[in-house]
Amino acid sequence: MKGVILAGGLGTRLFPLTKITNKHLLPVYDRPMIYYPIEALVKAGITDIMIVTGGRKSGDFLSLLGNGKDFGLKHLNYTYQEGEGGIAEALGLAEHWAAGAPVCVILGDNIIEKNIKRAADDFRRQGQGAKILLKEVPDPERFGVATVQNGKVVRIVEKPKNPQSNFAVIGIYMYDGRVWDIIKTLKPSERGELEITDVNNWYIQDGSMTYEVLDGWWTDAGTFKSLHSAASLVAAGGANQD
Ligand code: DAU
Repeated sequence: MKGVILAGGLGTRLFPLTKITNKHLLPVYDRPMIYYPIEALVKAGITDIMIVTGGRKSGDFLSLLGNGKDFGLKHLNYTYQEGEGGIAEALGLAEHWAAGAPVCVILGDNIIEKNIKRAADDFRRQGQGAKILLKEVPDPERFGVATVQNGKVVRIVEKPKNPQSNFAVIGIYMYDGRVWDIIKTLKPSERGELEITDVNNWYIQDGSMTYEVLDGWWTDAGTFKSLHSAASLVAAGGANQD
């Protein structure tokens, strides 16, 4: 399985921190934010990685990461997203490189306490379809929210005003090689983006979506509050633990 890290977008919720740089280059405790998703993939046994950058200072990713030596990698791949057309649009830029292989996609501002090797191995065995990871949160209206019935995810609603559950869909997704054609069918949402939630709902309709509930803490780092709490969580015990 290949890995795709989405680090595009303009990070407007973190202005003025992101006025002159890319959100994923900001520090989270002792490392730049982008280090955490790279480490998460490597610890899941995924070493063929594409980073989708965008916005300001995208060249700095190359200066910072090079070929990924700090992570034991020999090579890293990079591509560039113009504007911020959404998570699914950013993912679509990796199509030519993925060449039909299954992918594990991770949002560049998502940080987890424990490694996801078991979930990645489960998806390797699953062989087709998709897998998402859920986490119970106190503020589900900030996220994609999953409704689970009889052990299956039956629906995901993006940032619902009245969430039907407390299960947020975290920003780690595993897809088979159909994902590229699914992305091509998407229409922009009300916020003008190609939504990853629409991709996930396609797999739910297809009956080929599985899920696991994440062990350990999870946070995004895309708002002042979550960036601050991400740094505290990492300082207290580290991320991507075995
Ligand atoms: O954090 C998990 C949540 O991430 C999910 O629960 C939601 O379903 C999903 O839509 C997403 O919600 P956000 O609205 O918080 O995503 P945000 O716009 O902050 O983007 C998250 C990351 O995705 C960002 O750090 C970089 C990447 N991204 C985003 C956009 C909009 C891109 O690479 N390109 C983009 O155009």
